[in-house]
Amino acid sequence: MRIDKYICDTINITRSQARRRISCGRVFANGVRVRSSSLQVDENSCTVTMDGQPIKYTRYVYFMMNKPGGVLSASSDRHAKTALELLRDEDRRADLFIAGRLDKDTTGFLLITNDGDFAHALLSPRKHIYKTYEVLLKHGDFDGYRSAFEKGVELEDGYVCKPAEFIPFGNNRCLLKISEGKFHQIKRMFRALGNEVLKLRRTAMGDVILDENLKPGEYRPLKPSEYELFLNKITKNDP
Ligand code: URA
Repeated sequence: MRIDKYICDTINITRSQARRRISCGRVFANGVRVRSSSLQVDENSCTVTMDGQPIKYTRYVYFMMNKPGGVLSASSDRHAKTALELLRDEDRRADLFIAGRLDKDTTGFLLITNDGDFAHALLSPRKHIYKTYEVLLKHGDFDGYRSAFEKGVELEDGYVCKPAEFIPFGNNRCLLKISEGKFHQIKRMFRALGNEVLKLRRTAMGDVILDENLKPGEYRPLKPSEYELFLNKITKNDP
């Protein structure tokens, strides 16, 4: 691959910034000063340094964040803080996005990545990868809910949701597992059943559970074992 692409895939700068740094003589490949931005390097074996610091090629990154309430699942917004703004400078990259947005007031598991194919597969209803939400409801009269969710709740616009798993616990609380992500879906599902969502928190995506050590607003890279859990589901559920 080209050295300028290697650099901007790996650190948070644009292609033209990478080229400028190369032309200033700040970049070395295998110990030799790079003179041309079009130099081809092997990302698996070449040692690249900038200002004397090694930069290791990382094409794809995956972060698990515990989204706090009041933060938007967007890249940028003129008024509200966004989840991507919570990333530390060294983790910011222009190609990052959120795989499976949450409403502003929803908290919990947010997956941030730059791997489009992975995100697409993870979110595709055809892959049946369930996202688990903990829900606090206005009232706890859940008569008929389990079978309604199993059959598929009809929303106010006539859309019939895919079957969902409803697990009540405690007072006015439940877990709901859904495999699709329509706009405000869970709030609308409960509204269709005559109830109201007071609090919503995503606790798991597929078999990967939100790390309870992450305080609201904190994040960490996915562990290889968690990535594997996603991948197993994606490949196992290939239609
Ligand atoms: N369903 C909702 O209503 N809101 C979310 O943020 C996620 C699922």
